[in-house]
Amino acid sequence: MEYYSVNGAYHLTLGGIDAVALAEKYGTPLYVMEEDVVRAAMRAYRQSMERFYGGNGLVCYASKAFCCKEIYRIAAAEGLGADVVSGGEIYTAAKAGFPMAKAVFHGNNKTREELRMALALGVGRIVVDNFEELKTLAALASENGVRPDILLRVTPGIEAHTHKFIMTGQNDSKFGFILETGEAMEAARQAIGTLAVRLTGVHVHIGSQIHEAAPFIQAAERMVRFMADVRAETGYTLTDLNLGGGFGIRYTGEDDPVPYAAYMRDVSGAVRQACGQLNFPVPFILMEPGRSIVGEAGTTLYTVGSVKKIPGIRTYVSVDGGMGDNPRYILYGSKYEFLLANRADEAPAGEVTVAGKCCESGDLLGENVPLPEAKPGDILAVRCTGAYNYSMASCYNRNPIPPVVMVRDGEDRVIVKGMTYEQIVENDI
Ligand SMILES: Cc1ncc(COP(=O)(O)O)c(C=O)c1O
Repeated sequence: MEYYSVNGAYHLTLGGIDAVALAEKYGTPLYVMEEDVVRAAMRAYRQSMERFYGGNGLVCYASKAFCCKEIYRIAAAEGLGADVVSGGEIYTAAKAGFPMAKAVFHGNNKTREELRMALALGVGRIVVDNFEELKTLAALASENGVRPDILLRVTPGIEAHTHKFIMTGQNDSKFGFILETGEAMEAARQAIGTLAVRLTGVHVHIGSQIHEAAPFIQAAERMVRFMADVRAETGYTLTDLNLGGGFGIRYTGEDDPVPYAAYMRDVSGAVRQACGQLNFPVPFILMEPGRSIVGEAGTTLYTVGSVKKIPGIRTYVSVDGGMGDNPRYILYGSKYEFLLANRADEAPAGEVTVAGKCCESGDLLGENVPLPEAKPGDILAVRCTGAYNYSMASCYNRNPIPPVVMVRDGEDRVIVKGMTYEQIVENDI
């Protein structure tokens, strides 16, 4: 995201609004989401689905990336489904009036309460992750007099190139039934024989922030082959193929993501070809992009406090947020682009370490960050924070979680209020 808009005062603008004015109006830290960017990404996925699969599919926004009521309303308005992974996400979606039949429920350890809630609220598809869950779900479904549609999460044995914490397609994973060992086939047999549920298909998700098309293509081919094998072994034809999410975004110049349309073209080609070769009907396709829908839409604004220069070592520029609102650096050493929103025209004067305010030395937002000479009171903007920032936020050190403001065409509105100190102590006895 080295392209950004600057106004006549050389201030960064977001959705047509001066970012410094936003910081003054709402305070910092502040999450800002550009609605047009979110909607454009949702439309791009939906249009690609129509173009390459003739609309025989559903794009489900992976709401773990950024979850609040408004994003479900936007996803619903744009015709998307949603991937949900917890009772909390299901509850939020339902409260937002999201059409729950278009929700897909994931998780490697869904609780009975969460499964009950999914059944009661009519979640459209439940992705079963393990044998225990299959049994539990079948029992709960019988109790509730419903027969849910389920998919099986399959671990295809693919190692995508990404951080190990967000790699999920390899055999050594906490998620899913392993393809290679025959576990997935055994799960299919058991699910077909479990009349309390209706097995409709399979799901695969190989990881996140992936920049190559090849592992996605390989995963899609393996899944189609597996669907054909299930038909050969059991006579049962699966109709849903959920290809998961994981498409990378451009946090910095080091990232070179595959354009989504090219990904959709190549993967749909691979699915069709595999279906043709195996004489298998082309399935209904589901996809679950999260990061690539909201990531580039987000910018976090902070106020610079102390600037500590350690001669010959480094300069720490400390801001009024950190790992509480953005834990991605401390989790994965993630990289971002930074700029001073109030002096957006200035060239970098050197490299600094941007530090948060929490009591952890690892509470950094970036190292070796090129930045103009930063002074207390400057507004520091971190780009591409729309995904896995607010949704991963905590109030560590009892710092309140900042508000989220949505901007569009020169208008701003709060979509998540900032947490208050009173709310921090609300549940304390
Ligand atoms: C099952 C599943 N689907 C979709 C996603 C979304 O991935 P991304 O945000 O990389 O698109 C995830 C992320 O962890 C996931 O676990």
